This record gives sequence, C-alpha cells and structure tokens, in this order.
Amino acid sequence: MRATRKVLLCLYLLASLIILGCQPTVETHSMQPTEGYPFTKDIDEIKDLLKSKCLDTISFESGEVIADIGAGNGYIEAMLAMFNDSLTFYIQDIDTSVCNESEVAKVFKFYEEVNGKPFTSKFLTVNGSDTDTNLPDDTFDKILMLWTYSYLKEPVKFINDIKENLKDDGLFYVINPGIEETDYTKSLREETGWNVSILEKQIDDIINCGFNLVRIARNYNEGNYNEPVIMIFRKNNY
Ligand SMILES: C[S@@+](CC[C@H](N)C(=O)[O-])C[C@H]1O[C@@H](n2cnc3c(N)ncnc32)[C@H](O)[C@@H]1O
Repeated sequence: MRATRKVLLCLYLLASLIILGCQPTVETHSMQPTEGYPFTKDIDEIKDLLKSKCLDTISFESGEVIADIGAGNGYIEAMLAMFNDSLTFYIQDIDTSVCNESEVAKVFKFYEEVNGKPFTSKFLTVNGSDTDTNLPDDTFDKILMLWTYSYLKEPVKFINDIKENLKDDGLFYVINPGIEETDYTKSLREETGWNVSILEKQIDDIINCGFNLVRIARNYNEGNYNEPVIMIFRKNNY
C-alpha cells in the first residue's frame, strides 16, 4: 500500500512539473547551423563567406558537374553561381526540411536577384540517407562536403557510395574544422550515433575506402573554431 502511495506521489509530482512547463530537459542535438542559413545582398560578405569556407581555393571549370553533400538549402551553390558559369550543381542533404525543391528555389531566386542577371548554372535537389547519397554513379567531377563529415553515422558505407558517384578522375573535397577527442565528443557520439571523428580518423577512413589524399591545408584567417581544414582526395581506380 505504501509503495503504491509513493508511486502515485511521484506521478503526481511529474504531472505537476509538466503542467508548470518544467519538463525534465532532454538535450536535442541539431545538425543545422545554429545561426541558420544566410540571406545577404552584400557582395563583400558573400565573397568573405566563400573564402571562410576555403571555396576561393577551388577552381570550377565550365561544364563541370558538382555535388555538395550536406548542402542544406544550397546557399553555397547559389553564391558560387554568381562567380562561375555553366556548372551543374546537385544540392544533396539528408534533411528534407531544409533541402527541398521549394527552399532551394527560394535561395536561388534571392541570389539571382543579387547577381542582377540570370544564372547560367543548373541546380538539382537530392535527398539521401545515412548510407546512401542517392546521387547518380560515375557523374561528378567534384564532390564537396562542408561541415558535414562529423554527422555521418555510417561514414565508410557513405564514402564508398561517394566513390561510385565520382568520375574516374573525380575529386572529393572535405572541409571542416578540426575536432579533438574529449568527453563531450565521446558523449555526443554515444547520444547521436554521429561519427564525430578527429581529422586523422576521417583521413584514414577515406583512404581505406579507396582514395588518395592529394592536398591538405588549413585556413588560419577565420579564428578559433572556424579555422577549417581543406582535404582533397582523388579516387583510386585500381
Ligand atoms: C552543419 S550543416 C552544414 C551545412 C552546409 N554544408 C554549410 O557548410 O553551411 C550539416 C549538414 O549535414 C547534413 N547531413 C548530416 N548527415 C548527412 C548525410 N548522411 N547525408 C547528407 N547530409 C547529411 C545535415 O542535414 C546538415 O544540413
């Protein structure tokens, strides 16, 4: 009888907390940038943003087919289309709430207006899963992955799929800030299933999937957490 009273008392306390809006907090982890996606008409700001993401170091040739994995709403491709002609961009992401035709069209309309003339590049939207990019095979000259590697739950399966998506001489660009192994990254890995790998492990995993690391550099201009490392991999064709 006493035990029943205790259980009822606990249930009553929990119900009171919920009614008072004091639900026990469960931390939710988002994969989206905390600051949201930028809509800016300031050309210098756009150039600075591309530079902060190391994109000023990549040259894009007319006619190339490019995929951005974890592209969000495609704002980076809209910005790249302002300074590059006749590219085909595949805007790829697992999150259909940010990466869908209507959101991507909104972003492109906005930046096309900032550009002041129609874009000569084409844009396609693709949603994938934790193991599969859902991109066509043997198609891409370049595949970009910015601030996204850490969130992959099945990096080896996913990278093997990227290898199939690239043309024989295709390049894979992984750009993100370095991560140190800490108690926080360990708990994040356990709670979310994300790989949250340090750079050395990212490189090992990608090489073991059949890539060569052809260049690695760090952008020291951005300060602290935002100093990204750019790693360029070429697929092995043997
Ligand atoms: C921090 S955001 C980076 C967005 C953008 N690349 C940028 O640099 O601003 C990480 C993105 O990775 C996406 N993502 C996570 N896992 C993914 C997966 N398996 N396949 C494709 N996208 C994924 C998330 O949905 C999110 O849009």
